[in-house]
Amino acid sequence: MSADDRALQRPCLMIIFGASGDLTRRKLIPALYNLAAEGLLGEDFRIIGFARTKLSNDEFRAGLLKGVEENVVAESLSSEEWTRFARRISYISGDYDDETSFRALEREILSCSRSCSRGPGGYELYYLALPPTVSETVLATLKNSGLVGKGLRGGFSRVMLEKPFGLDYQSAHRLNRTVAEIFDESRVYRVDHYLGKDTIRNLLVLRFANAIFEPLWNRRYIDNIQITAAEDMGIEGRGGYYDKAGVVRDIVQNHVMQVLALVAMEPPVGGDAESTRDRKYEVFRSLRPIGQGDFVFGQYTGYRSEEKVAADSTTPTFAAIRMGIASWRWFGVPIYVRAGKALERKVTEVAIQFKEIPLCLMSDKKACENILPNVLYIRIQPDEGIQLSINAKTPGREDDVQRALLGYAYGEGSDGRPNAYERILLDCMAGRPTLFWRADSVETVWQAISPLIEEPSLPRALSVHEYDKGTWGPAEAADLPGNDGRHWLASW
Ligand code: BG6
Repeated sequence: MSADDRALQRPCLMIIFGASGDLTRRKLIPALYNLAAEGLLGEDFRIIGFARTKLSNDEFRAGLLKGVEENVVAESLSSEEWTRFARRISYISGDYDDETSFRALEREILSCSRSCSRGPGGYELYYLALPPTVSETVLATLKNSGLVGKGLRGGFSRVMLEKPFGLDYQSAHRLNRTVAEIFDESRVYRVDHYLGKDTIRNLLVLRFANAIFEPLWNRRYIDNIQITAAEDMGIEGRGGYYDKAGVVRDIVQNHVMQVLALVAMEPPVGGDAESTRDRKYEVFRSLRPIGQGDFVFGQYTGYRSEEKVAADSTTPTFAAIRMGIASWRWFGVPIYVRAGKALERKVTEVAIQFKEIPLCLMSDKKACENILPNVLYIRIQPDEGIQLSINAKTPGREDDVQRALLGYAYGEGSDGRPNAYERILLDCMAGRPTLFWRADSVETVWQAISPLIEEPSLPRALSVHEYDKGTWGPAEAADLPGNDGRHWLASW
């Protein structure tokens, strides 16, 4: 048995705060169910849900079963498996700031610990599937009630926090300080499910398991980098959360910045978690200040009529941003980022556009005009894969040039599993922090993107442009690369 397998077999009490919410039902429990079905959860793995909604154990489990049915592939569903899995789950309702409710939770933790056949040596895993302000309340109550560490004797505790990690630099800093009062940083796992995606992890393999890219991966050969995180769906009933967050807090501060870091970071000095996390931190530290002319916001038509959205909301559902990195490798290379809801289609992609050839040597002028800069496309989802666009001679007598793609379709070798949450949960359980945000990086990114969330000099209503659903955002977004003599690249 490997060290990882042994770590996964340890007794574990997973305590989920926010257990009646969407994330628990749609993501966490289906992922845990899959892991259990694969035999990857130890026998003594128990789940205690905690939330405000009053529910019996059975009602809670019934809600979770629906989530599993909707989110697990049909072949993995089995009523015997569910019955076995459901036995691991119990539920406590209470208020997040109420120590009496936490006493009830403590009793449940102690009773679960007693039923663990192998006794000590396990750990408690606190999962905060909650918005940042509520997470802070939970952490304060955990501290005041002295609950953490009471469960599995001789064990230890870990905490997983969901993004957004705070709502700005100050609140993130406060949240980090509050967490640090209870958990050592080595026990804190800040979840960014993008990092659990296979194709995101493939970015590092592409860059550092191939010798041909590194010599070109710099300002001498790369003209610009474009990162797109587009979704075709709207906010899907999450107005209460989204109207406070907006696209910058929801996607840009976390998922997009991780993609940017993986594309731009220096090679890590070793394979350990901190080597990679140090390199990402350096990218965040060297982000060029964002000026007022470096971003365009949009809001899709009809957003204000969504449930729980203010009728005069100026929350952006689309952002296009010009970023840059002040380092020897990247100085002067623009990084254009765009992210948003209700766009033409769902696609997350990095496009790396190389510089133009210095001189066309073909005698045919038309052929010269047809030569375009090479682009390396890294498609994160859907149709995951990598494509390099090159110029090739058109077959036939004429000396013309056409585009050809050298490609690798990642999806063909996988069945879409493991999904991101399975990977994230397994890594935390095995004590591997590489795929999680570190406190210093979180704060540094908030500082770097603060111009995007501060009150703008123009009233928001004037600076957030309306766009039609199903488009690529407001027309003004074209100006960002446009003003630099560039354009958004269509994906392959
Ligand atoms: C979440 C955001 O973190 O990521 C959602 O809160 C968004 O608004 C989702 O829809 C996108 O994730 P994925 O894996 O579907 O690209």
